[in-house]
Amino acid sequence: MTIGGSQADAPVVAIDGPSGSGKGTISQLLAARLGWHYLDSGALYRLTALAAARHGVALDDAAGLARLAAALDVRFEIDGDGERTLLDGAPVGSELRSETTGDGASRVAALPEVRAALLGRQRAFRDTPGLVADGRDMGTVVFPSAEIKIFLTASPEARVERRYKQLKEKGIDANLAGLSEELAERDRRDSERDAAPLRPASDAVVVDSTALDIAACLDRCLEIVRQRLS
Ligand code: C5P
Repeated sequence: MTIGGSQADAPVVAIDGPSGSGKGTISQLLAARLGWHYLDSGALYRLTALAAARHGVALDDAAGLARLAAALDVRFEIDGDGERTLLDGAPVGSELRSETTGDGASRVAALPEVRAALLGRQRAFRDTPGLVADGRDMGTVVFPSAEIKIFLTASPEARVERRYKQLKEKGIDANLAGLSEELAERDRRDSERDAAPLRPASDAVVVDSTALDIAACLDRCLEIVRQRLS
């Protein structure tokens, strides 16, 4: 199944937050529980950074990167083998999730031209019966009219530990001290940039997941969704 369609009035749960807050895991579980579509907007910035490396476009060439982002040949597929991301028709492996790619993503994401080029593509994921959208600016810029907005956060220590575990599970090499610095730098860049900085929407519910395990965090988010939809 290829994900994506378009229904501008379908309900949206926007989940934003910093790296390692658990957004990705919680958003995917929430989408599965609700039977809704899922948008991993960070993947689009990561894929733009990967495409730039492949095509030799410099990470500060705003016009070149925007052209690349607008023309990205990307597909998100789900089949019996799980989820697959294809760039230029070929599956992207573990490099999609590496911190090097995350760092490149955060650099290209600071450019308003790149953000503008990816906007329509993200909005096209809104489709019936609903969409769970995960990112940094889902509730503030991409889906400002989302019915439900959650800002998921956690202490810096908890976020670094989670990211470390995640990378290890995916077979990606990481060291705790280096990762801690990389995440801090990425969060600083994402929060301080002028274009769509990371911050909770004024109508977002903030959930601190530091002391919550995945099941408890999912329950809390489901409770928020049910309250808002009832
Ligand atoms: O969530 P993920 O770690 O995959 O995101 C990678 C980077 O993409 C983030 O650090 C951020 O700079 C950028 N991003 C963004 N806006 C989004 C999603 C991701 O700027 N909606």
